[in-house]
Amino acid sequence: MSKALRHFLDLNEIPTKELRNMLELSLAMKAKLKAQKNGGAKTKKPLEGKTLAMIFEKPSTRTRVSFDVGMRQLGGESIMLTGAEMQLGRGETIADTARVLSRYVDAIMIRILNHDALLELAAHATVPVINGLTRRSHPCQVMADLMTFEEHRGPITGRTVAWSGDDNNVLASWAHAAERFKFTLNVATPPQLAPNKAMKDWIKATQAPIVLGNDPESAVRGADCVVTDTWFSMGDKDGEHRHNLLKPYQVNAKLMSLARPDALFMHCLPAHRGDEVTDEVIDGPQSVVFDEAENRLHAQKGILAWCFDAVA
Ligand code: CP
Ligand code: NVA
Repeated sequence: MSKALRHFLDLNEIPTKELRNMLELSLAMKAKLKAQKNGGAKTKKPLEGKTLAMIFEKPSTRTRVSFDVGMRQLGGESIMLTGAEMQLGRGETIADTARVLSRYVDAIMIRILNHDALLELAAHATVPVINGLTRRSHPCQVMADLMTFEEHRGPITGRTVAWSGDDNNVLASWAHAAERFKFTLNVATPPQLAPNKAMKDWIKATQAPIVLGNDPESAVRGADCVVTDTWFSMGDKDGEHRHNLLKPYQVNAKLMSLARPDALFMHCLPAHRGDEVTDEVIDGPQSVVFDEAENRLHAQKGILAWCFDAVA
């Protein structure tokens, strides 16, 4: 019997132990890469001969480059595709695209807004599929964020993370992480931009340690980490209205001062400075945003090694 495919679609679908192994592997590979750069032993190439297809329906800097470089460092290769250049853009179905690509490549990473399209791809692919961001979630990002938190502050279990902003894909993956790793997630969103019923039902059903609310000050008070994201995710339209609703949720020095004095500030980037975060905070001593960006590379490698069941 063939082994089940290891799709990386959402954090809440993967056992905590396996997520933990991915994080440990990412940290170990990061250390080995740094040692190699300082003249130490060469890192392993467990994905030699493997090819990753990367499909981007939307722009990307970090996800695209970190997956590409990650594949190269692990000995494999990647192919960059955009929906517009593929027959997908002319109406070929996701299911047929999945069947065809599976005959050529060893894994598929996709950034596509429609989460159901991601699920459809995974259902019809015979190789692992990785969620490189949908409207619903961004699990690769939060793996890098968990790694970053733990590098700076130790185990995240039992700690408190605060979110100030709108409900979006990054928040959903933070919520999934809170449920898996048992840390408190205090969420402050405008009532009009709050998590939907499906998310609320999931929190209730799983008893995830997540507190939903509308007040940024009470969400942030005493937190170990404050997280925000752009007020305009890819696909969002209602510009000025959103802007006005979200103004009180800006992470500035005053809001940060309510968190623990050693609290970290996180943002997945790209940032819209002056909107969701001030320069003072994102460039300040509590900000670890570029560590998060760097860790996308190492986290991606942990995810790839898991998908391929490779010993790295
Ligand atoms: N954080 C993130 O996913 O960045 P990109 O959109 O540049 O990939
Ligand atoms: N929430 C953002 C994340 C970008 C990496 C978006 O979906 O555009």
